[in-house]
Amino acid sequence: MRDLHTSSTALAASTSLAADDTTLLEDFATLSAFGATPGGGVDRQAATAADGEQRAWFHRWLTAHGAEVRHDRVGNQFGLFTVAPGAPYVLTGSHLDSQPLGGRYDGAYGVLASAHAAYRAVERWGAQDARPKYNVAVVNWFNEEGSRFKPSMMGSSVFTGKLDAETALATTDRQGTTVRAALNEIKTVGDYAGPDVAAYAEIHIEQGRELEDQGITIGLVDATWAARKYQVVVRGEQSHTGSTVMADRHDALFGASLLVVAVRELAERSTDVPLHTSVSEMTIEPNSPVVVAREVRLHVDLRSPDEAHLDAAARQLAESIPGIEERASVTIERVRTHGWGVAPFPAAGVELAARAADDLGLSHRTMMTIAGHDSVNMKDVAPSVMLFVPSVEGISHNEGEFTDDRDVRAGTDLLTEVVHRLMSGALDDVR
Ligand code: GLV
Ligand code: MN
Ligand code: MN
Repeated sequence: MRDLHTSSTALAASTSLAADDTTLLEDFATLSAFGATPGGGVDRQAATAADGEQRAWFHRWLTAHGAEVRHDRVGNQFGLFTVAPGAPYVLTGSHLDSQPLGGRYDGAYGVLASAHAAYRAVERWGAQDARPKYNVAVVNWFNEEGSRFKPSMMGSSVFTGKLDAETALATTDRQGTTVRAALNEIKTVGDYAGPDVAAYAEIHIEQGRELEDQGITIGLVDATWAARKYQVVVRGEQSHTGSTVMADRHDALFGASLLVVAVRELAERSTDVPLHTSVSEMTIEPNSPVVVAREVRLHVDLRSPDEAHLDAAARQLAESIPGIEERASVTIERVRTHGWGVAPFPAAGVELAARAADDLGLSHRTMMTIAGHDSVNMKDVAPSVMLFVPSVEGISHNEGEFTDDRDVRAGTDLLTEVVHRLMSGALDDVR
């Protein structure tokens, strides 16, 4: 077991930061050590040993700061600061799980900032000898990344009723391990139904480079791009790479390759409206040097701020499939597995955060989120505020992900302010 605040001694010594800020940065250094990779990132995919270790550390952090820790049946981890017994909770959080060879900030920054913001807000209410209208709770959503178990945003999808808990628990990784078995392995699972949520707040790194390019500290998310994700299976026939005559081949990998190109060309042709497209995961059977592939599974990810345009792109992709089937002599099955629409975050929440940023002297602008976040689910069930801090060079899902300490601190200060205001019922008119 690690100490609660093991971290770089240089950090505290070299700065004249307020005690709160020093603790925040020390905690972030501690958190970044779980699943640390040689390239400076982290690898702690959902319900792996590294995820279990960081969850245990976070449990201890929450308990040491006065929160009660509870887990629901899909591994969402809640830290409840109850200061107004019987009242609903302002919920704030993000996710601690990462992509394979991911960055230190994606999700983890938001969870830690939320923990500090909740603690500071509670302290502030106490110092004012005042009782807020709402309690505050911190959440570490299970499996936001969707890398080990699909789909992404799994924990918040179950919490918001968009995904059945049994379906989530029965989902398997590539080795056939279920979410249920993996969660039992790391022992952060329970039967808590979750708090009654009055409002939700999340902070995250931008994962793009607009804030950095414009020298702005805070992004106020006013809407989300739409996303469509598909599982595609290309079926051919296993044969000999050397002896099978070309005309007789049913090469699933050739068919898959044509599909990869078709997906990329959708974005290349979309010159007027932004469209981001990728084939992001591929499994090849039998994946053997002297064998023509019999089956390839691909994951296709399409995104745009214009939903009609996204649907048109998805149609074009569907229309390209018969030609690919004929050329590669394969069959292709395509199933839509996950997605969300272009949808706004409540304007009153954007306004609340803008005023709080003004009061702290932080520059800000509104922007859409391209990446999915747990707030994309939460905004459909509770008034939600989503904040961004800059990502250096927009690097994301990469060990090189970086956000300056100054922005780490500024975002946490702002989140504290937002949480404090939400605890007094500032978004009660939004429903
Ligand atoms: C999740 O993070 C997504 O962008 O799909
Ligand atoms: Mn994230
Ligand atoms: Mn991510």
